[in-house]
Amino acid sequence: MDGLLTVADFEAPAAEALDPVHYDYFAGGARDEITVRANTSAFARIRLRPRVLRGRGTPRLATTVLGQPASMPVLLAPTAFHRLAHPEAERATARAAARAGTVLVAAMLSTVAIEDIAAEARKVAADPVLWFQLYLQRDMGFTEAVVRRAEAAGVRALVVTADSPALGHHERNDRNGFHDLPPGMRCENLRELRADEPGHVRQVDLSPDLSWAHVARLRALTDLPILLKGVLHPEDARIAADEGVDGIVVSNHGGRQLDTALASVEALPAVVDAVAGRLPVLLDGGIRRGTDVVKALAYGACAVAVGRPVVWGLTVGGEDGVTRVLDILRDETAHTLMLCGCGTPAEVSRDLVLAGPPC
Ligand SMILES: Cc1cc2nc3c(=O)[nH]c(=O)nc-3n(C[C@H](O)[C@H](O)[C@H](O)COP(=O)(O)O)c2cc1C
Repeated sequence: MDGLLTVADFEAPAAEALDPVHYDYFAGGARDEITVRANTSAFARIRLRPRVLRGRGTPRLATTVLGQPASMPVLLAPTAFHRLAHPEAERATARAAARAGTVLVAAMLSTVAIEDIAAEARKVAADPVLWFQLYLQRDMGFTEAVVRRAEAAGVRALVVTADSPALGHHERNDRNGFHDLPPGMRCENLRELRADEPGHVRQVDLSPDLSWAHVARLRALTDLPILLKGVLHPEDARIAADEGVDGIVVSNHGGRQLDTALASVEALPAVVDAVAGRLPVLLDGGIRRGTDVVKALAYGACAVAVGRPVVWGLTVGGEDGVTRVLDILRDETAHTLMLCGCGTPAEVSRDLVLAGPPC
């Protein structure tokens, strides 16, 4: 990994190492991929307006998210199918996140079972913080069974993906004929629990009628904190706060659902204003630099999450690759805070950012 200095540096060697069909699955997005590109270009249009002479010393990045500890305000977003990227799959990702002391949001569509992801994280950290991303299934009984598995594994929050009444349309996958995992790989959390069908693995079965009623039913099922992922409209954020949701992830699914949806950082300020401090707001989509992290904090996010950079790190170097990507983001975030005159993430305020034409 010598010579890989930035998060972006990891993409080319990952593309080289991956089957091109799988690279397209990871890199691609919905339709014309306009939102994929918008997520990163929107960050470039935001300028930082630093403070000086505040004597803050070396920044301390440790923070809490939903009252849970994180060594930095950078989490690992849920991304599916890590075994396509590396044979150690989510096991390697889990160890890297736990070693880094930050939150891994394990994907429901992982190729390692949530119980094994949790066990792996515990090998390297006494009390790793693990959250679980959930696609609410049409069959609420099956959804409940998956939630019980996550609870038993020690998961500390559920992240419900709200932007997916249907899967996004990825034309790269259509052109490549990529619709199924290769033989020998499967979504271990979709394993049927019925004793008469031990080997059966379900397809993810999204609810086209996904509504607030589903969220209320989930709320009644579990005491775990519930975050809603995929909120872009301030009105939905306000409803989420009224419905007793515990947190919001402003996200357009990395541009993989509705193409031409606005960039997540463009959506962030209105969502933060709509919830007015009633619940924490996180952001994912397009975070590639420490400056991006600080810009999201300035608009009021309490933390951000990264998707593709983790996959590229995993592909290139397994656990060490993910560790390196997280270290780069940690160092860049600390450096940015220092140059902005901030000693902690909490000191970042909205007056540090100005939106404008590209730099
Ligand atoms: C390959 C890939 C798979 C993903 N799988 C899921 C998933 O199963 N569930 C989900 O809620 N989000 C999924 N996402 C979206 C991420 O959680 C996140 O919103 C997005 O990757 C953030 O954008 P970034 O890749 O620019 O960091 C996936 C993203 C990628 C790139």
